[in-house]
Amino acid sequence: MTFSPRVFSGIKPSGDLHLGNYLGAIRRFVPLQDTHETIYCVVDMHAITVWQDPEDLKRWTYEIAAAYIAAGVDPKRSIIFNQSQVMEHAELSWIFNCVARMGWMARMTQFKDKAGENSEQVSLGLFAYPSLMAADILLYKATGVPVGEDQKQHLELTRDIAKKFNHDFKKQIKALGHKGDFFPITETLATGPAMRVKSLKDGSKKMSKSDASDLSTIYMMDDADLIAKKIKRATTDADALPSEAAGLAGRLEAENLVGIYAALSGQSVDEVLGQFGGQGWGVFKPALADLAVEKLAPIATEMKRLVADRGEMDKILRDGAERARAIAQPIMADVRNIVGFVR
Ligand code: TRP
Repeated sequence: MTFSPRVFSGIKPSGDLHLGNYLGAIRRFVPLQDTHETIYCVVDMHAITVWQDPEDLKRWTYEIAAAYIAAGVDPKRSIIFNQSQVMEHAELSWIFNCVARMGWMARMTQFKDKAGENSEQVSLGLFAYPSLMAADILLYKATGVPVGEDQKQHLELTRDIAKKFNHDFKKQIKALGHKGDFFPITETLATGPAMRVKSLKDGSKKMSKSDASDLSTIYMMDDADLIAKKIKRATTDADALPSEAAGLAGRLEAENLVGIYAALSGQSVDEVLGQFGGQGWGVFKPALADLAVEKLAPIATEMKRLVADRGEMDKILRDGAERARAIAQPIMADVRNIVGFVR
């Protein structure tokens, strides 16, 4: 069987969105709309694997949906919805809990990092998280998932679950009239060079919502003044910019700021350095601040407009959930049949 090109991706509503979410994920969702059927989810069921204040969870759910739209995901061409509105995610994840093996889950580095010493005290949901992620993807028979380096292992596990399901139920899949595999072997989509945005105060740390310093993270809802202020106060070394990328080696803060400039301007790092090589921070930082304001402030403005209009957002999410369900339901009907559930 051939599968039509379909993309699924999701972001957890577990904190305010920042530049790392934008450059690493959301921005990459936009061009995929031209080549694929695209489904972009707010994965609220994933978020609650660790404690979330219910009011915050709602706010962040709207915020992510608004960010997708403000960044250029078109709710008509793409499906935008929140996971918990399509209950088939939960149903398929249960079946996958019974396909996946304990040992597969126990090897997940993200679980080990998050659970740490505390693995007896974290939720059972956190352990089963990758099984729910596999269900998100395979519920739509998605062929490609644009995700960063940190999610590659989860995608591999998704393929393992698909393979085991296809194998264990081979006879039933064939009896249903399917030629070949039931679930696709989903690919990790490479969407340009990896962009890992670092803290503006410490180039060895990821930009994150949990940073102690207010100035280290640019949030997607920051206004123009705040964006410019954070960039101008970013930590740097005292040297001038090099003329080519190799000269950034070991200069983590410089590498981060030049990388952000390159990503926002759509240029390569070498092109940026071709322009700024030999200049000092007194020239580069204002240029970066102007560029960041030009690219990000309109998105922030649109996000604020959208999140203030809950009626409109609810309509978009409900419409997306309905369209997601229309794809998921026939697939789930087959799955129930394949595993032997009587209906
Ligand atoms: N685990 C992903 C993350 O932490 C979020 C996610 C959940 C996801 N389901 C997904 C990403 C399906 C891509 C496809 O970033």
